[in-house]
Amino acid sequence: MSNGDTEMADANAVSSSSKGKGKGKASDIAVAQANAAGDEDLLPWVEKYRPVTLDDLVSHRDITTTVESFIEKNRLPHLLFYGPPGTGKTSTILAMARKIYGDNWRNNVLELNASDERGIEVVREQVKSFASTRNVFSGNAGGGPGFKLIVLDEADAMTAAAQGALRRVIEQYTRNVRFCIICNYVNKIIQAIQSRCTRFRFNPLELDQVEERLDHVIENEGAHITQDGKEALLKLSKGDMRRALNVLQACHAAYPSIDSTAVYNCTGSPHPDDIRAMVQSMMNDEFTTAYNTVSALKAQKGMALADMVSGIYEFLDEVKVGREARVYLLDQLGGIEHRLSTGGAEKVQLTALLGAVKMSLELAAKAQGQAKAKGNGAK
Ligand SMILES: Nc1ncnc2c1ncn2[C@@H]1O[C@H](COP(=O)(O)OP(=O)(O)OP(=O)(O)O)[C@@H](O)[C@H]1O
Ligand SMILES: [Mg+2]
Repeated sequence: MSNGDTEMADANAVSSSSKGKGKGKASDIAVAQANAAGDEDLLPWVEKYRPVTLDDLVSHRDITTTVESFIEKNRLPHLLFYGPPGTGKTSTILAMARKIYGDNWRNNVLELNASDERGIEVVREQVKSFASTRNVFSGNAGGGPGFKLIVLDEADAMTAAAQGALRRVIEQYTRNVRFCIICNYVNKIIQAIQSRCTRFRFNPLELDQVEERLDHVIENEGAHITQDGKEALLKLSKGDMRRALNVLQACHAAYPSIDSTAVYNCTGSPHPDDIRAMVQSMMNDEFTTAYNTVSALKAQKGMALADMVSGIYEFLDEVKVGREARVYLLDQLGGIEHRLSTGGAEKVQLTALLGAVKMSLELAAKAQGQAKAKGNGAK
């Protein structure tokens, strides 16, 4: 079994469906259960609308066409997909597997993800035994590609020892299998594995691509969404398609018509109008009045200070303040966010925030005064 050239027929290939209990597989089980109940509506939309073919993917055309041409020429290298969550990495490899193996794909794919044991033992036993055998039906003679696929999803959670054990396995069994390693943080994958794979970065989706897919779902589900609701949804998604679909489904369940307020309520993010009112009060009112106004609004809307800080951070784009004042404020916002995350008291940090805004205004005024004096001096 340890010989890389073993061309042993393996009619009972270790299939992901029979062995696994991971995320992708959980979704398979969910789909099967929903089908059994005859009700697709039971499914979360992220699974119901998971792309089935490579054409269903709305983004990363360059990656899908490259991978498709690899498949057509039967020259698939080992792959490394990395990028932020919800950008279609798992969907791409599953769609690819369907394209390569057809309906029989589960027999030719070993999928292991973070919910499976993937220590060094598993690499030595499960991965190696899957890799060391060939599938009769997928061989060249059977019209198949001649290799099986091992998908290691969320590989950044694998220990360095397990990754180390993998490097020889990857080389040794290239005749039988191709590896696809998927992760969010590529720097957690050891260099030796990175160098054995062709790397593809999955960037966050462009907002118009998210919109295209959302439109498809909205139409299919008969959801009603206003233009500002859609804009808010796109903005909050930040290019994460999974997040966009989850928020859309939650809003659809809670509101008959989805507008921006519904979207912000569902996600618990502060509404930009509230943030604007708060910042205006902080800038224009005297300290105590501003503190009272902001605390009252914060309590009324049930806002966490951390969310408020990120809201203000985004709002800063719209505010005209001088360069020094902006830099000062950004630095302070960073400090407050950090202190909040390490257990700082909300009340104290709120006053610190207020102080930071006031100080930045003073800095802006000072800078303006200096500029004026300079202008006068030049005359
Ligand atoms: N490019 C895309 N086109 C269409 N739908 C997408 C795309 N990317 C993501 N989705 C949707 O988002 C869901 C999650 O995508 P997927 O599981 O592929 O993300 P991922 O990149 O593997 O994320 P993670 O790093 O968290 O595992 C899919 O079920 C699908 O509905
Ligand atoms: Mg994934």
